[in-house]
Amino acid sequence: MQSRNLTPFDRLLSGANNALRTIAAPAAYAARPSPAENVPEAELDSRQKRHAAGLMRINHAGEVAAQALYQGHATVARDKNIEAQMQRAADEERDHLAWCEQRIGELDQAPSKLSPVWYAGAFAIGAVSGALGDKWGLGFIAETERQVCDHLDSHLQELPDTDARSRAIVAQMRDEEQEHGQHAIEAGAAQLPAPVQGLMRLTAKLMTKTAYWV
Ligand SMILES: [Fe+2]
Ligand SMILES: [Fe+2]
Repeated sequence: MQSRNLTPFDRLLSGANNALRTIAAPAAYAARPSPAENVPEAELDSRQKRHAAGLMRINHAGEVAAQALYQGHATVARDKNIEAQMQRAADEERDHLAWCEQRIGELDQAPSKLSPVWYAGAFAIGAVSGALGDKWGLGFIAETERQVCDHLDSHLQELPDTDARSRAIVAQMRDEEQEHGQHAIEAGAAQLPAPVQGLMRLTAKLMTKTAYWV
């Protein structure tokens, strides 16, 4: 596999390239069509539209962080199979990112202005947890995906009932995040200590509260 021969500098360049694509590029990189593709647009009033856009902006920010988390871990992963698995998950996360971005645009709003902050923070966490050893990096990913699933479930409650396009995207993301978490567990994820889990929930809360508005 090509990635076996990458030097640390190559990895750094590829990481920087991915960061730029995540933060700065328009939603052009989805490999799969959006789950909303054939779902008709609903009549939403301005309040519903603003609320749906806020929720999708949170999800977009989460996907920016997911990109960074997986890239950060892949950069330091010791096991080549795990590195490949991280890359595959990151590819699906890129679709999620593009679908969310597209949907935010349809709702006449823009993604979070703080994307570079979400990316940098999550990349550092992914690299640090991965550097502690693959089982901790995987543990971090498994716990993140679990929390993200809970959070997407809550969005399925909160989104306007009629907003079937946003719902289709969130529902498919939810199923795939569950798979990512399961794969991380099967690859040997360690269970994180409760205080770390709590800290992660707190950080996610800060991000979601902010990204709803900014
Ligand atoms: Fe995702
Ligand atoms: Fe995921």
